[in-house]
Amino acid sequence: MSNDGVNQGRRRFLTGATCVVGAAGVVGAAVPFVGSWNPSAKAKAAGAPVKANISKIEPGQMVTFEWRGKPVYVVRRTPETLKNLENMSGDILRDPSSAQAKQPAYVSGVHRSMAGKEEYLVIVGLCTHLGCAPMYRPEVGAEDLSTSEVEWMGGFFCPCHGSKFDLAGRVFTGVPAPTNLDVPPYSYESDSVIVIGVDQEVG
Ligand code: FES
Repeated sequence: MSNDGVNQGRRRFLTGATCVVGAAGVVGAAVPFVGSWNPSAKAKAAGAPVKANISKIEPGQMVTFEWRGKPVYVVRRTPETLKNLENMSGDILRDPSSAQAKQPAYVSGVHRSMAGKEEYLVIVGLCTHLGCAPMYRPEVGAEDLSTSEVEWMGGFFCPCHGSKFDLAGRVFTGVPAPTNLDVPPYSYESDSVIVIGVDQEVG
């Protein structure tokens, strides 16, 4: 019986507390709304190209840049990786020639890079299944990713539902992701700077 009294009192307290949180929520929500009255500068910044300095990326290393709120992975691939991609069996890839992939016309081949710049892979780091960020797993022969039929040759693994991609962002068969990872528009300002969001002039 006395418990009822305690619960009542507690309930009243919780109700009061909820009201305070509610009021704070309204104040909090007003701040971003004020910001949105003048969206032009913000919108411009959000859509702006991003310069990525690639001079410090070591062979085999990946660096993530942010462009339009999305992670963009830049991987400096080793000569062995490039060779492995050429020898990758088309049977384990859903779209080996990237016919269905979202990628600019100046990106081509099994490496999915610009001609003469095969060393660098530039891809959007969002899984084409439901948008998780795939993990960079470059280790050849990784036990948790190899199967009895196929040895893992390095690539990307999505921790959400297990999709696998090779080191050109090409999706494996038998996983939930339907297409290869997207390649964003990009161009080379110099040998050490990539501009993500600006198309390479093809001439
Ligand atoms: S989001 Fe990557 S496998 Fe589902």
